[in-house]
Amino acid sequence: MYKILLVCLGNICRSPTAEGVLAKKITQQGLSRRFQVDSAGTAAYHTGESPDERSCRAAARRGYDLTPLRARQVMASDFEEFDLILAMDHANLSSLMQNCPAQLQHKLGLFLHYHPDSIEEVPDPYYDGESGFERVLDLVEVAADALIKDLVK
Ligand code: 4NP
Repeated sequence: MYKILLVCLGNICRSPTAEGVLAKKITQQGLSRRFQVDSAGTAAYHTGESPDERSCRAAARRGYDLTPLRARQVMASDFEEFDLILAMDHANLSSLMQNCPAQLQHKLGLFLHYHPDSIEEVPDPYYDGESGFERVLDLVEVAADALIKDLVK
């Protein structure tokens, strides 16, 4: 089993959205026995909470159910346990780098590295209007397809 961890700051907007989208695409493509997805936040502000209602609503409109997900903070064992750890923005990646042992840092990267356009960050929609949540989904859906393509090639 190849394990992928998606990471943002609060684990209530971007990374649970990415988890929900990627997990559904993996299932739809019959790849559930090969790939497993989880998400976490670099901060503990929202530990135990469901994703933001605006994320849940936007995702539901496109057929993804984020409501069973619960926020958690990245832990030291994640760096051992996961094969690929992808951050939503540069600040998330810097936090991961600071906490990850040097010999495991090859597992870290940016999720949008897989997006075909040269966009590097999923913008944080938390303080934004509904359109920010749609933008997250637009970016995440394209990157998730490209990531799966890359992993199965
Ligand atoms: P996320 O968004 O990192 O995409 O989950 C945020 C959610 C909450 C906060 C910041 C970003 N916050 O500061 O509470």
